[in-house]
Amino acid sequence: MTATDRPVVLAADQVTITFDGRDDRGRRTAVRACDRVSLDLHAGEIVALVGESGSGKTTIARALARILTPSEGEIRFRGEPVTKHTKRLAYAKEVQMVYQDPFASLNSLKTIRHILGRVVRIHHPKLSGRQVETRIHELLELVALTPSRDYIDRFPTSLSGGQRQRVSIARALAVDPSVILADEPTSMLDVSIRLDVLNLLDRIRREKDVSILYITHDIASARYVSDRMCVMYHGEMVEAGETEQLIDDPKHPYTRLLLDAAPDPSRVKPASA
Ligand SMILES: Nc1ncnc2c1ncn2[C@@H]1O[C@H](COP(=O)(O)OP(=O)(O)O)[C@@H](O)[C@H]1O
Ligand SMILES: [Mg+2]
Repeated sequence: MTATDRPVVLAADQVTITFDGRDDRGRRTAVRACDRVSLDLHAGEIVALVGESGSGKTTIARALARILTPSEGEIRFRGEPVTKHTKRLAYAKEVQMVYQDPFASLNSLKTIRHILGRVVRIHHPKLSGRQVETRIHELLELVALTPSRDYIDRFPTSLSGGQRQRVSIARALAVDPSVILADEPTSMLDVSIRLDVLNLLDRIRREKDVSILYITHDIASARYVSDRMCVMYHGEMVEAGETEQLIDDPKHPYTRLLLDAAPDPSRVKPASA
């Protein structure tokens, strides 16, 4: 059974999002950041959302996280339209975001215990202090910050970028979400540890059966980790399909451009004498 045989958890249906902006001459104009974007996330799959900077990736992710309301179109969670009446806390329990910058997204004045404990308590108010503590240790183990006792009392400032991103992922997992929207989670990390974070996302989806939207401008990493891939260009979804199929036979010129620019060893021709 492939992931697409499983139910759709989160979907964007023809979502358009416009912002007030200025044109070259400073006149007010509407910026169409997403233009009729549709996208499905099935249970337990990793979908990569690929596109250059400014193509609308973060905007659609923010709509999926219901931080932004679509100007047109609809977001659906397990088939139910997400509206202004959808309870925020209940939605946050299902759909979590992980951001690009692990330095900005964690409060550097708080310990890891505080950062994770706070989320655990909000979503599981009935847990005792000891149960919260146990849960924090489980989360640290899950993201391979082990032994967890070495991390729980530390401040984000004493952690590397990769370790901080693991804490951000642990915080997202603290609510047992169905979906994680990971917006360029590795782009600020050292190249040497990016693969570790991608492997962590893959392990989490297997162990926790979460669906992950992996947003990136890097098609090589998208290929590495995703089951399906969607390509955005200038606010439009120009191509979508199973990752290997899409890479073997890209239909849109922009996808070909991304592939040609990506360092993929199998595409490098051997040097001729
Ligand atoms: N809050 C905003 N106000 C005005 N324009 C915005 C806002 N957020 C994003 N945009 C514009 O929408 C477009 C898409 O941005 P974004 O979704 O951040 O792209 P990406 O994440 O792919 O780099 C860009 O042209 C950007 O300038
Ligand atoms: Mg972005």
